[in-house]
Amino acid sequence: MCGIVGAVAQRDVSQILLEGLSRLEYRGYDSAGIAVIDHGNLKRIRTAGKVRELAEEVNKTVLPGGTGIAHTRWATHGAPSVANAHPHVSGNIAVVHNGIIENYLEIKERLLGEGFSFESDTDTEVLVKLADYYRRTEKDLLSAVKAAVRDLRGAYGAVFISSDEPDHLVLIRSGSPVVIGVGLGENFVASDPLALMPVTHNFIYLEEGDIADISRFSISVWDAAGNAVKRESVSSDASSGGDATKGNYHHFMEKEIYEQSIVIPQSLEGRIRNGRFLPESFGARAVELFKETEHVKIVACGTSFHAGLIAKSWIEEFAGITADAEIASEFRYRKSVTEPRTLFITISQSGETADTLAALRLSKQQGYLGSLAICNVPESSIVRESDMVFFTRAGREIGVASTKAFTTQLLALLLFAGSLAKIKARIDAETESAMVQALEKIPAFISDVLRQDDIIRKLSLDFVNKRNALFLGRGVMCPVAMEGALKLKEISYIHAEAYAAGELKHGPLALIDSEMPVIVVAPRNDLLEKLRSNIQEVRARGGVLYVFASENSGFRDEENMKIIHLPAVPDVISPVIYTIPLQLLAYHVAIIKGTDVDQPRNLAKSVTVE
Ligand code: G6P
Repeated sequence: MCGIVGAVAQRDVSQILLEGLSRLEYRGYDSAGIAVIDHGNLKRIRTAGKVRELAEEVNKTVLPGGTGIAHTRWATHGAPSVANAHPHVSGNIAVVHNGIIENYLEIKERLLGEGFSFESDTDTEVLVKLADYYRRTEKDLLSAVKAAVRDLRGAYGAVFISSDEPDHLVLIRSGSPVVIGVGLGENFVASDPLALMPVTHNFIYLEEGDIADISRFSISVWDAAGNAVKRESVSSDASSGGDATKGNYHHFMEKEIYEQSIVIPQSLEGRIRNGRFLPESFGARAVELFKETEHVKIVACGTSFHAGLIAKSWIEEFAGITADAEIASEFRYRKSVTEPRTLFITISQSGETADTLAALRLSKQQGYLGSLAICNVPESSIVRESDMVFFTRAGREIGVASTKAFTTQLLALLLFAGSLAKIKARIDAETESAMVQALEKIPAFISDVLRQDDIIRKLSLDFVNKRNALFLGRGVMCPVAMEGALKLKEISYIHAEAYAAGELKHGPLALIDSEMPVIVVAPRNDLLEKLRSNIQEVRARGGVLYVFASENSGFRDEENMKIIHLPAVPDVISPVIYTIPLQLLAYHVAIIKGTDVDQPRNLAKSVTVE
């Protein structure tokens, strides 16, 4: 993984491929490469570094040719290096691949025995060697790839080209997304339609196990059983595309933090009416399924998992039914028990996270009532495989560290908890209307918090030379603290931990000294007095505190304790509002430390491998 682009056209395609790669840069990667068939010869250029550097290399030479493939790689098997970058080549064939070939060592052994040699440490290289091996006996590239696929175990979205058949792309999909972009007298492929927006808005989504042979004028598809099938093309309005420029902001992350006051009302539109929740906004079957639901299971990864933890509290508090939130990579590999009448919810910004998708697929064999996806990408695999879908409408999020996708997920989950509570008759009309009014006020409160940006920027100077930080919260604010810690570690590389403040004396108190900044999320709620005691525990041990507190909570700056005053907000929305300053804090610390804010090292936006 991480980004694939391919083209078969009459015109030269190298610039189209490079543009496609740069549109996928936001996903994170460490090397890039391109291969084009130039007058019957396969020409390849690869660099360890950014697409910009690859483009410089390409522009130093002439790289004409109407058929080509390109890739941004995020290292899984083998270090980031030119030798490990895609495309990989064997004989006249080249491949780019996302996913993991699980039995690659076994295949490699076999091919070594057949006299093949290997130049990289990647699993991908076996794909191209295997196709080359079968090409010796099969009549063309397509047949060779079909034969190779029969030997594979694992996940792949991959595109092959061969200089023997310069007008073809062969595409395979199993477990890693790829789409075909349909043009006029030219066709394209990519791992994400966004890469192809400058050349087409018509896409064919392949299904699991599909193989496609693509030329300038034809697209033929075979399903997993080998039957020729027709897959319809759909026109994409790039609804998930958003604006892929930074505008007046320095980084996408900064822009996305600021956009939160715009995307939240966008996400709310049509989902409430006259001060009431609209359960049907979760889909045609929602009311019927919600009535039957007696338990909720939430599965997600990363930031989306934190949204799930917050939702667990909300569902139990408002709807009065039990809820669980679990990390997808754990859920999928343990023997879990399905409570009767449980609704299965996945939360995913990208809709392609491999572990979340695998968990969703597994849930279908485990007797769940049905599945609901909370997702930001309409065309994604998770969306297509779920019974009900709620789009978060955050617009495309480009910064690897999730910000606006998270707060719109929270909004979706509040609407869910409220709708469920309404259907279960757990809230009266007055409470419902108060909750809806609180939701409607979120954008204004976010704007208030954003006005504190300068204060938070100054505060961030204190963190630059720190190696560790501790985040504390209680109740529903505990996952908010976890999200704050995750943001800081993702983009500033400072080790950050979050703890439920009540657990302090069971371990983390031992870490407290003047070198350990302690960040506390302290809205004025039922737990505030408990939290004050925890703050005292830290102060008594010489800790340095940064308390994000409600302006009416009575906190004042004291020695070694800095208070950041936030607006007094209704309890129900405080997780959304208190997330914003923590995002700003991480952003400013990262800026001062000079890290790559939008593409932090070693991380990817969309983790399509497990
Ligand atoms: C990666 C991203 C995170 C994201 C997580 C889950 O780690 O860098 O920002 O929270 O994947 O992704 P998802 O698309 O499923 O929300």
